[in-house]
Amino acid sequence: MYRHVEYYPGDPILSLVETFKRDERPEKVNLSIGIYFDDEGKMPVLESVRRAEAERAAVPRPSPYLPMEGLDTYRSAVQHLLFGKDNPALAEGRIATVQTLGGSGALKVGADFLHRWFPEAKAYVSDPTWDNHKGIFEGAGFEVGTYPYYNPETVGVKFEEMTAFFKTLPENSILILHPCCQNPTGVDMSQAQWDEVLDIIKTHKLIPFMDIAYQGFGEDLDSDAYAIRKAVEMGLPLFVSNSFSKNLSLYGERVGGLSVVCPNKEEAELVFGQLKFTIRRIYSSPAAHGAYIASDVMNCEELRALWENEVYAMRDRIRAMRQKLYDVLTAKIPNRDFRYFIKQRGMFSYTGLTVEQVHRLRDEFAVYLLDSGRMCVAGLNASNIDYVAEAFAKVLQ
Ligand code: LMR
Repeated sequence: MYRHVEYYPGDPILSLVETFKRDERPEKVNLSIGIYFDDEGKMPVLESVRRAEAERAAVPRPSPYLPMEGLDTYRSAVQHLLFGKDNPALAEGRIATVQTLGGSGALKVGADFLHRWFPEAKAYVSDPTWDNHKGIFEGAGFEVGTYPYYNPETVGVKFEEMTAFFKTLPENSILILHPCCQNPTGVDMSQAQWDEVLDIIKTHKLIPFMDIAYQGFGEDLDSDAYAIRKAVEMGLPLFVSNSFSKNLSLYGERVGGLSVVCPNKEEAELVFGQLKFTIRRIYSSPAAHGAYIASDVMNCEELRALWENEVYAMRDRIRAMRQKLYDVLTAKIPNRDFRYFIKQRGMFSYTGLTVEQVHRLRDEFAVYLLDSGRMCVAGLNASNIDYVAEAFAKVLQ
């Protein structure tokens, strides 16, 4: 009956995690998936989250369905975090925000909505990008192309090529963009480059879809939202998918959001209705627990301040690991320029390792990176960094 069903070779990220789990070598190091681990190699339970959960657990509560769009207090917290509390667009009521099943759920709801109302449009992802951007947009029915982004020679952005390409695109082409901590390269645009890109988007009437999954891990919570806020200030139409998986360390709760910035309140209401309709037809309504926790943390002054410090501590530890890797590798291989490890931002680093070198790391040293050479820096810690640097040096020499 199912012979015609195609074999699924697995996902490049999630399947590798499975392989890692099965690896019995005690020295194994997981630098594959984008998960933050602390200096002991453990996934942290944030103190802000622990306190919110303790308060919630103290009172028995029934668990009714959330509305299709999710929890109100959570949705407004998402808006404040992304756009800034005092953003005039919020007062004007022109941002439609729904709670989603993580950032992936937001991409799916946004992509389904766009495909229904802009069926002729094509979507474009950065070269390279997080694999599932392509998957989710193709799954929604889009033809997905790529735009030039990463330049391996400069370990920077192919800015001229990228902007020239944007200028060739027809109206309503959808651009999936990373406002901070680009996944997989860790290479971000400067604010001046964002200004230029947003100008082109405005002139050529393109649709920016910004996926922000690492807010707070680049510079800080506000600076990481620069591109989002600038786009709103410029009056652009804008889709934003966001996630609390990483910055609240709530991966399994699937806490995300989709915000659509519209020209006015009337259109925002139309969009909001269609987003609800889209959600109803996929999964009806989102999960409640994570949204209550996120909302409790964001909306309580004390917990919010505690949380910010916790996010910045994670950011700083990642930076320290970048510096350490740079120091050790530079000492071992002085004729090679490793400055990119320090320059890149967020959890990821495009290491420049070839697929053969990545496989050697995995086979000979039990160090797991993605085949693309992407490393999750947040998997490094005081106990494994020398071992990893040593392994890197061996495959690089
Ligand atoms: C990653 O890029 O590793 C994360 O976003 C996790 C995932 O779902 O792929």
